[in-house]
Formats: sequence, C-alpha cells, structure tokens
Amino acid sequence: AKLLVLHGPNLNLLGSREPDVYGRTTLADIDAGLRQRAQAAGHVLESVQSNAEHVLIERIHHARDDGTAFILINPAAYTHTSVALRDALAAVAIPFIEVHLSNPHAREPFRRHSHFSDLAVGVIAGFGADSYRLALEAALARLPGH
Ligand code: DQA
Repeated sequence: AKLLVLHGPNLNLLGSREPDVYGRTTLADIDAGLRQRAQAAGHVLESVQSNAEHVLIERIHHARDDGTAFILINPAAYTHTSVALRDALAAVAIPFIEVHLSNPHAREPFRRHSHFSDLAVGVIAGFGADSYRLALEAALARLPGH
C-alpha cells in the first residue's frame, strides 16, 4: 500500500531547531528510517515537508487520487491553528495518525488544543523521532490485508 508522511512548518530545521525540545535527529534521517521500514514491510512511503499551508492541503487533495491508504501527519504549528488543513483531511477521508516529537500537553497552554486529534485514528506525541516510528508501526498494523 501507499503511505504518505506530511511534515508541517519548521520541521525542515530538525536537528538544529531547539534540540532540547525536538532532539538532534534530522528530518532526512527520520524520513529515511520510515521509508526503509515501510519498504521492508512491502509498502511504499513518501514524505513531504512544507512551510506553506496550501502545499500541504494540495498534497492531501492529491492523496485521494493517488491511492494513498494511510497518512502520518505532524502538522507542527498548524496543529493549533489550521482549520483548513483539518478540513482537507476530513474531505479526503483517508485514515491518519497525528504525530508530535514533543508532548504538546507538557508545554505552553496554546499547544494543548489540536484541530486534528478528534479526526485522527490516534495521536502519538512525546517520544522524539521515535514518535514517527511508533506511528508507522501502528499504521502498518492497520493497513488493509494486514
Ligand atoms: C510539534 C509541536 C507543535 O506545538 C510545534 O508547533 C511544532 C512541533 C512537535 O512535533 O512536537 O512545530 O508538532
């Protein structure tokens, strides 16, 4: 099956961005690990990072036509702001897992609300780069035919 990983704004800076909060693993390393794991399980995984809301929205629209079976998304700051990105996921009705490196509930109050969690199959947060790995395992276990 096809899996799509979406990374929101500022996650291109992973590795150097607030390492005490987000760790030292780069986004390229995270994506490579996910791709390998998906491939080993007989699946195809594509990762997209964007700092622009419309790019993420349009990639989600395209997922409806390209056979994407499952989405992993770290909406980053858009978690707390973007009704438009939420609506895109609702529109395509592809199951998704919400992923965060940090635990937003242990941080500033404005990070406690997510526009995505109630639509998500589940939420994995607080385990650094491992959050993505754990989310992928959860997604693989839920793919059709598994
Ligand atoms: C984040 C948490 C968000 O609150 C923040 O805006 C991010 C990253 C995380 O992965 O921990 O950019 O989604």
